[in-house]
Amino acid sequence: MSMEPTVLVTRKLPPAVEERLRRDYRPTLNADDHQFTPDELAAAAQDADALLVTPRERIDADLIARLPNRVRIIATYSVGHEHIDKPAARERGIVVTNVPDVLTEATAEIAMLLLLGAARRASEAEALLRRGGWPGWSAMFMLGVQLDGKTLGIVGMGRIGQSLARRARAFGMTVHYHNRRRLVPDLEHGAVFHDRLDDLLPLAQFLSLNCPSTPETQGMLNTRRIELLPPGAIVVNTARGDLVDDDALIAALRSGRLRAAGLDVFAGEPKLHPGYLGLTNAMLLPHIGSATIETRDAMGFRALDNLDAVFAGKAPLDRLA
Ligand code: DGY
Repeated sequence: MSMEPTVLVTRKLPPAVEERLRRDYRPTLNADDHQFTPDELAAAAQDADALLVTPRERIDADLIARLPNRVRIIATYSVGHEHIDKPAARERGIVVTNVPDVLTEATAEIAMLLLLGAARRASEAEALLRRGGWPGWSAMFMLGVQLDGKTLGIVGMGRIGQSLARRARAFGMTVHYHNRRRLVPDLEHGAVFHDRLDDLLPLAQFLSLNCPSTPETQGMLNTRRIELLPPGAIVVNTARGDLVDDDALIAALRSGRLRAAGLDVFAGEPKLHPGYLGLTNAMLLPHIGSATIETRDAMGFRALDNLDAVFAGKAPLDRLA
């Protein structure tokens, strides 16, 4: 009698995803959605054929070395995969997959929300209203700036960057971008490529970070680069918190060198630099870029498609290692 593979699922997932897991596999689910310590994770994985993990778990070389030989795949329920040591997995013959494409639109929508919210002081205005501080309409009250007619610099013109560019154009913005490679003209839709990030920055009245976290990009937005932005620029980050030097960004927001920021991601999540909390010109969200019902289902289904492929002896669509 053939037995379905065993899947260790590290966090609670949407009901439709867990239902498909129960239908096709023998899953170990995390009903109370607790966070595994590395030791708990290693222990729970001892009878697993597959791991379905999230960005909250660090799957480093040490953890990978403690996995049993039967583990065939580590599928992450995320597009970002910096939390997994791919070379260590490759060395043990474990496939690693992520879930690109399916969270593109949701994340681009959150970037748009932050561009608008930071420009129009949405967090500050709402907080003021809620605490009863609204003095009533007046001509100089809560003035922000418009997106229309401004230049948006996008760092990282992958799927999410391109989707954001499409939205930004609809808001009347001109798009410039920096990417490892120039897009083919058909995908640029008039966006202007800059081979060097430092050449893009002086033009970016709005700057959106949409690139992965890698050793090359970590700490990329530092004091020197902030100084290259136009005075009063607005910075949005929906990618990874560690792309930004927090002290530098906070200082620039405090001094007014930057007008505002919109941040959905933070270094060291769920903790964040306490300096952000007192800044009225920072719109802060708790990493909800992909948090829509549609997208969270799609992320799970895509991860399961990758599992299905591996257990059917086929190449998974989203193989990273
Ligand atoms: C990802 O998939 O990497 C996102 O950051 C999760 O929302």
